[in-house]
This record gives sequence, structure tokens and C-alpha cells, in this order.
Amino acid sequence: MTPFKKPFIAGNWKMHNGPLAARDFFGRFLTAYAASPDRTIVFFPPAISFGAAQGAVAGRPDVELGVQNIHWEEKGAFTGEISAKLGHDAGAAFALVGHSERRALFGETNEDTARKTRAALAAGLTPILCVGESLEEREAGNAGAVVETQLAAVLDGLDADTAAKLVVAYEPVWAIGTGRTASPADAEELHVRIRAILIDRFGADVGGATPILYGGSVKPDNAAGLLAAREVDGLLVGGASLDPEGFAQVCAATG
Ligand code: PGA
Repeated sequence: MTPFKKPFIAGNWKMHNGPLAARDFFGRFLTAYAASPDRTIVFFPPAISFGAAQGAVAGRPDVELGVQNIHWEEKGAFTGEISAKLGHDAGAAFALVGHSERRALFGETNEDTARKTRAALAAGLTPILCVGESLEEREAGNAGAVVETQLAAVLDGLDADTAAKLVVAYEPVWAIGTGRTASPADAEELHVRIRAILIDRFGADVGGATPILYGGSVKPDNAAGLLAAREVDGLLVGGASLDPEGFAQVCAATG
């Protein structure tokens, strides 16, 4: 964590918490977590619970909301999909793009991720671009190359002004939902590499300021250690973001 940066903590609920559960969650979370101007907190509820989440955080402008997935088209006959514009119209400020579950379970390609990133930016949503290698790729010594390819597919289409609105999340696939967290040293190695790519492409002002989050089995007891690693600007949390009190601890962690 670079001292001048504001930690950025995001909770991805995935396919959990309907509207009632969302209200119940925030009732407890907002009691456990006192507003703090020195950090950014963002939740990604399922789309069906977005309105409930929005109502529940209405009195807490320190807590922002995003959508877990978007289609790259603005509107049209795409049953079951939501566009970046629809998310923005509903009050979302962020969108996850390129999450490994979208890539692995729903066949999303680097090109799809690039289109979604452009769509989010065009609609005024901040994309959180997720990248990360599988266990086989890591064991073959290809983690850096895989992440570089995933990043390049999206960054190739962006100029520095646009890239200034991007957030990147490094999420090694082998650490997601497995209870196997990357060590702060593992995370740091890839974060430093991602930072170098961003600076090389967009210059120190933009590339040096892009928040780079770590994700993969983050919990209250490992959050501070990960935040203390170099170039780890925040955390993207799945399973542990479903526990209001536990996630309040993650949100308050300092590196
Ligand atoms: P996890 O998920 O914290 O449950 O490993 C992280 C993510 O998928 O963003």
C-alpha cells in the first residue's frame, strides 16, 4: 500500500443475498463499520438486490454500489442481460469486468472483457478489470505472462485519459473461493508487475495512480498483511463480504 493512497475495499456478493437478506446485511454492516473518509467501500450485490441495497445505504454516502456484470451493448434484445447504461441509470458507480468466474464458467474472452470495459467507461461506470492466472499457469511459471496478456487485451484500446478511470484487480484463480490466499509476497510480485505495465503505457501520473486491488480468499485475519504489500491498493472480497461484522473488519483494516 502506498501511504498517500486511499484503501479501496470491494465486496462481491456473487449469487448471494436477495433483497431481504441485503437489507438485513446492511443493517448489521453499517452498525459495525463507521464511515471513514480515508477509504473507498463498494458493494456488488446481485442485480435483483441492487434497489434494496441502494435503499439500505441511502444514508451512507461513503458506501458505493456496483454491478457484477454488464453487456457491452447499450440496449436491445438480450434477455437476462443488463447494460452499463442500465446500471448507471440505476445508480451504480462501478462494474466488475473480466471476473474469472465469468471467464471460466461463462466463456468470456479477453475481447469480451475489452468490450465490456469500453462500455462501462462510455456509460460513466468505473470498471474493475479482473485479471489472474490459473494454478496450471502459475505452476508452469506463466503467471506474469498470462496477466500481461489479459491486461494488454483491454489496455490496447485505451488512451491515458480514459485509463485514468480504471481500477485493476489481481485475482489469482487458484486463490478464489479456495481458502488458499496468495501470500503478501506472491501478491506483491504481480502487483509490482501490473504497476510497471500501467506506468509504461500511460505514464507515471495515470499508471502510478490506478488502484490495483488484490482478490482471492481475503479474510479479516489476512487483510492487513495483504494491504501492507507493495502496490496493493485495496481488496476485492468474495465469500468474506457476506459476513457483515467480518467484512466490517476487512473494511477497517490498515496495511
Ligand atoms: P473469494 O472471492 O474472496 O471468495 O475468494 C474473490 C472474488 O471472486 O472476487
